[in-house]
Amino acid sequence: MRRLCRARTVTTRANADGTDGDARDDAADEGSGDAKAPARRKRVLSGVQPTGSIHLGNYFGAIRNYVKLQDDYDAFYCVVDLHAITSGAHDPRELEASTRMSAGIYLAAGVDPSKANVFVQSHVPAHSELAWLLNCATPIGWLEKMIQFKEKARKAGEDVSVGLLDYPVLMAADILLYKADLVPVGEDQRQHLELTRDIAGRVNSLYGGKKWKKMKGKAPSGRSRGGDVLLVPEAFTPKEGGRVMSLTDGSSKMSKSNPAEGSRINVLDTPDEISKKIKRCKTDTFEGLEFGNPERPESQNLLTMYQLCTGLSQEEVIAECGTMRWGDFKPKLTEAVIEHLSPIQGRYKEIMDEPGYLEGVLRDGADKANEVANITIRDVRDALGFYQPR
Ligand code: TYM
Repeated sequence: MRRLCRARTVTTRANADGTDGDARDDAADEGSGDAKAPARRKRVLSGVQPTGSIHLGNYFGAIRNYVKLQDDYDAFYCVVDLHAITSGAHDPRELEASTRMSAGIYLAAGVDPSKANVFVQSHVPAHSELAWLLNCATPIGWLEKMIQFKEKARKAGEDVSVGLLDYPVLMAADILLYKADLVPVGEDQRQHLELTRDIAGRVNSLYGGKKWKKMKGKAPSGRSRGGDVLLVPEAFTPKEGGRVMSLTDGSSKMSKSNPAEGSRINVLDTPDEISKKIKRCKTDTFEGLEFGNPERPESQNLLTMYQLCTGLSQEEVIAECGTMRWGDFKPKLTEAVIEHLSPIQGRYKEIMDEPGYLEGVLRDGADKANEVANITIRDVRDALGFYQPR
């Protein structure tokens, strides 16, 4: 287990909320006050909901980037199970299985527990507590504007749960608890990231700075009071894969909630399933294949999928496939997807077959996550003026 770094970050850039680099350093401080302590490593946090199967959108939009970032960042990747119950009527038997499956896929995709902390959100109680504290600082109008809420609420009608409205605040809590510098997400989550930044900025201006400083002395973490309470994070969205589209409609997002199973390829789909889905996927009647033609969303999407699975550049994909017909391209795409997913599926099986392995990883991950989250939550309670046990 790596040691918790307790020094100030060295950052000179101004913050998006207008505070200067020092305030940002304060928020990142986990407080030894030791000037010689090494700089805190930048931190990354992200998560996927354990609802249904993880598909290529989740994988290319998020999980694959978890793997890329784990070498350079102090990484926290959680399975956000508290987010999976906002429908108001989830199946309790499925939640546990889905949670284990999601964690297993993180590891199978290359998240390495010796580099990254993998844990389950509900194993760290501070997520729920911080969500409540942030709720009280978040104007309801900010939440009512969220596109995902509006879309899902329209579908849920009168049964829409308070949790669905409040969901982005819980997501903000997930991120802010770890003082994450960077949050890898697909494009659909960028609005929630903006909201997280706004909430952090509001908490900082309501309770940070001079107000907190006037309380004198040290915060429970050992950092000096004053400055930002929370660190304002940045989103990280990949250039390719940030928005993988449906197989049955190239202009709508690939999604777990689409009732048509043929609209998505799941990471654990068998070669036969993958082949059938690609055979039936929507195409167009244009000649050849191309990127960047707004009238050809399916061509853009399926070529990008090929590019992501093969690791080729756009130019190489066009040189190889630009003059092809759909009938020639589809088998090529099928082969590339199967080839890309097959080692992940092999590792997944090994991980899930090894008794106690996943549980051990999640236990260690939760221990480390609790350690970091508890530092933040105690500082937030302090800044908000809660009487703390002594
Ligand atoms: P979720 O579970 O819907 O999706 C998980 C991740 O996959 C990305 N994604 C996509 N990327 C590209 N193309 C697609 N078609 C596609 N569909 C989904 C999502 O953008 C996301 O990154 N609220 C979040 C989970 C969450 C979270 C967090 C994320 C909760 N707390 C804290 C980051 C940090 C969600 O519902 O993602």
